[in-house]
Amino acid sequence: MRTLIRHGTVVTATTAAPRDVLIEGDTIARVEPEIGESADRVVDARGKYVIPGGIDVHTHLDMPLGDITTSDDFESGTIAAAFGGTTSIVDFAVQERGRPLAEAFETWMRKAAGKAVLDYGFHMIVCDLPPERESELDALVAEGITSFKLFMAYPGRLMLDDATIARVLKRTAANGGRVLMHAEDGAAIEALVRRALAEGHTAPKYHALTRPPATEADATRRAIAMAGQAGVPIYIVHVSAAETVDEIAAARARGSAVWGETCPQYLVLSDECYEAPGFEGAKYVMSPPLRPRAAHERLWRGLAHNDLQVVATDHCPFRMKDQKTLGRDDFTKIPGGAPGIETRMSLLYDSGVRSERLSLSRWVEVTATNPARLFGLYPRKGAIAPGSDADVVVWNPQREITWSASTHHMRVDYNPYEGRLVKGAPDLVLSRGRAVIDGGKFVGRAGAGQFLKRAPR
Ligand code: URP
Ligand code: ZN
Ligand code: ZN
Repeated sequence: MRTLIRHGTVVTATTAAPRDVLIEGDTIARVEPEIGESADRVVDARGKYVIPGGIDVHTHLDMPLGDITTSDDFESGTIAAAFGGTTSIVDFAVQERGRPLAEAFETWMRKAAGKAVLDYGFHMIVCDLPPERESELDALVAEGITSFKLFMAYPGRLMLDDATIARVLKRTAANGGRVLMHAEDGAAIEALVRRALAEGHTAPKYHALTRPPATEADATRRAIAMAGQAGVPIYIVHVSAAETVDEIAAARARGSAVWGETCPQYLVLSDECYEAPGFEGAKYVMSPPLRPRAAHERLWRGLAHNDLQVVATDHCPFRMKDQKTLGRDDFTKIPGGAPGIETRMSLLYDSGVRSERLSLSRWVEVTATNPARLFGLYPRKGAIAPGSDADVVVWNPQREITWSASTHHMRVDYNPYEGRLVKGAPDLVLSRGRAVIDGGKFVGRAGAGQFLKRAPR
């Protein structure tokens, strides 16, 4: 199958220029000012942007949490992602405490097989790792699971002690993997939570009040210091606070190998959401929490000036009607996380590019090219160049969407951006040359997505 996309503006991380794109089979064959070849399908992209498909390196599909599971599986989640202009994801496999890492890898491979409509890779969340099992990390790197997420928060569940963190960092320095850090000070938060509950504070807003910005910034400073001692680069996930961006910027200025990821919710929503009436604030219970509106400016500036390198989603959907309600009488029992796999590219385009906070190229860089570069997928993904996978989106800057739970494709009963009008959305989404979204309709196939064996550093 040959597809020729003509008369569009090809936007990459470095340029935006009028170019035709010829796709042959799975890959991009040519990118030139004018291609006069015949093709099975010719797409007129006049007035539109032709961009590499988005890469979301932070999703939680079909993820168990106690007795419940995130409400999107690999089929519904990747369909929703595709509607939003994303063509690859890197999801988190979660090790069960005391069990081999390889077991979690196999479990997550089974969850995705036959379901994912887009290509997918995995990070591994490491929940414990005695010294005699450190070689399991090396084995995963060889299998293409080249990144490990560690938690400094959630004591008793996900949090690792400093000694284990130090050993994983050291081992990863040697095996060519990468470390993603959930940087929140678990002990400080625990003390604040205990006091809030003892004082009878049970409402959703206390989730945010017990996780102040300093708990994120302090943990980030420590994580960067520990990674520096081990000699391994570190990637700080879901940065929400202005103070955390300052820590990352200062470390980068000193020459530390540290990268930062933020998410659309931290760029456009604020802690005012926790003041919603009744239990509505539970929609926004996520860790770290939404911050005061004043943080937005620092996050946008951080993205524009390369203090932060990636915008992912932390898509972690739980239904309001029967899942978030588990914490109706106790904010600590509200399952943490929010949906966003579908809304990322449009929100960033609308609030970033259209509001002149990000250039077109920077938008592509933080949503596709940098995720590919930092996680061993570049230049196969994240590029519009000969030889790259034909994961291509024809982006219509005039297409409008009003986000709503009644029309979105995520399998969850609320949308954090309900009623918000955004301008800019995909007309056509190709995954390895095959249409997945065409003119607002899903035309892909469950099981068409392939496992992405990612390269080490
Ligand atoms: O509250 C959140 N973000 N839940 C997802 C797990 C995580 O820490 O990324
Ligand atoms: Zn996290
Ligand atoms: Zn997450």
